[in-house]
Amino acid sequence: MSEIAKIELGGTSYELPVIEGTENEKGIDISKLRGATGGYITIDPGFKNTGSTKSAITYLDGENGILRYRGYPIEQLAEKATFLEVSYLLIYGDLPNSEELTSFTESITNHTLVHEDMKQFFEAYPPKAHPMGVLASMVCSLSTFYPESLDHDRGTEAKDLTIHRLIAKLPTLAAWSYKNAMRHPFMYPKNNLDYCENFLHMMFAMPTSEYQIDPVVVSALNTLLILHADHEQNCSTSTVRIVGSSHANLYASISAGISALWGPLHGGANQAVIEMLEQIANDGGDVDKWVAKAKDKSDSFRLMGFGHRVYKNFDPRATIIKKACDDVLEKLGVDDPMLEIAKKLEKVALEDEYFKERNLYPNVDFYSGIIYKAINIPTEMFTVMFAIGRLPGWIAQWKEMIENNEPIGRPRQIYTGENERGYVSVEKR
Ligand code: SDX
Repeated sequence: MSEIAKIELGGTSYELPVIEGTENEKGIDISKLRGATGGYITIDPGFKNTGSTKSAITYLDGENGILRYRGYPIEQLAEKATFLEVSYLLIYGDLPNSEELTSFTESITNHTLVHEDMKQFFEAYPPKAHPMGVLASMVCSLSTFYPESLDHDRGTEAKDLTIHRLIAKLPTLAAWSYKNAMRHPFMYPKNNLDYCENFLHMMFAMPTSEYQIDPVVVSALNTLLILHADHEQNCSTSTVRIVGSSHANLYASISAGISALWGPLHGGANQAVIEMLEQIANDGGDVDKWVAKAKDKSDSFRLMGFGHRVYKNFDPRATIIKKACDDVLEKLGVDDPMLEIAKKLEKVALEDEYFKERNLYPNVDFYSGIIYKAINIPTEMFTVMFAIGRLPGWIAQWKEMIENNEPIGRPRQIYTGENERGYVSVEKR
């Protein structure tokens, strides 16, 4: 017998069905509430208590620090899978067999080139253009080169082509946004390189010198991309879903997700963490002073990379990245003082009542920047790396929303403005 929720309004009792997920999560279904109660709605700024959909893609347990993609624990995927395998898993629902993986990989490899005309767009940007602004524009502009992608009712094969084009071209566009900012010549993708190798080649090779592929760097990048691949209904994913729910094309929906990810409270936090650590280092490294600032309500400073809407114990991704930090830096022979400051900051914060009371722990962004720095990714590219990792998750969530024929997203509101009043001519105001 499924559970029923009851509410009393104006002396009348209403019953609302309770739905239960495969991990025993429960939700009160209010989809009929407004009609049944004569206009009552619920309100929940930031949707802290509100589910927007039912999804079979990613499971998070914030209290126990659990993260699974299609049922597979993130720890196993990060250790054993490749990023393209995980992309296939998220988008199509199962790990690919060898034939499926070969076909998927070949399709991605064959679509890494970007239309030559797009190079002119890059040249119009100023040298210091933030690559997230460039990337969001370029991804939306891809739709103008593939006008057939605007047709919502195309079949599976056509949708898959757009999906493969996006996964293939995002690293190229990302690397070119970096080369453009450096005013360096663009490097073209190479079909003999794997996904991560190809990105590093396009980022760091020059026409006069090959990029020496370092397996430690490639492995670290593969792990980081997997850890960022999906995270259920976060801010940027919800943005992709709501834009896609209007039947805007997938390029436009992903471009909107890139824009939402840019914010320092979301994906932009990884850049903000390194800038914060450098600020603390330049200020003499007094970690206690900065933790006190983060607690001071009159001070706008927050400990970037700390806290999470869902994880109230620990972010399993942060645990994996923290372990990888020591390993990657040791193998690369990098001694980054920011790592020591980060560890001191974490120790002080985790022993502080303010952070403990609010369940504030390091999140995925706290340590990721230290590894990106170690593999020579420039700070302004950190959130671009997050976008490359999150792309398959955004696509999987968009695809699920479309295949489930979910309605256009259009929340209600409670109006708190002026009551009706008459127009007054300017002379009488
Ligand atoms: C990502 O949703 C996802 O899944 C996101 C993500 C993904 O994979 O998609 O995991 C990626 O975005 C990770 C988060 C990256 N952002 C940061 O590191 C920025 C710093 N963190 C915060 O701004 C904050 O913790 C959020 C935005 C992450 C979560 O904010 P919430 O859930 O809205 O919580 P809140 O702002 O209401 O904070 C609750 C309390 C407040 O204090 P009180 O009003 O109760 O006294 O905790 C305090 C906040 O002031 N607080 C912090 C803090 N984070 C929360 N105080 C100091 N430093 C912080 N970092």
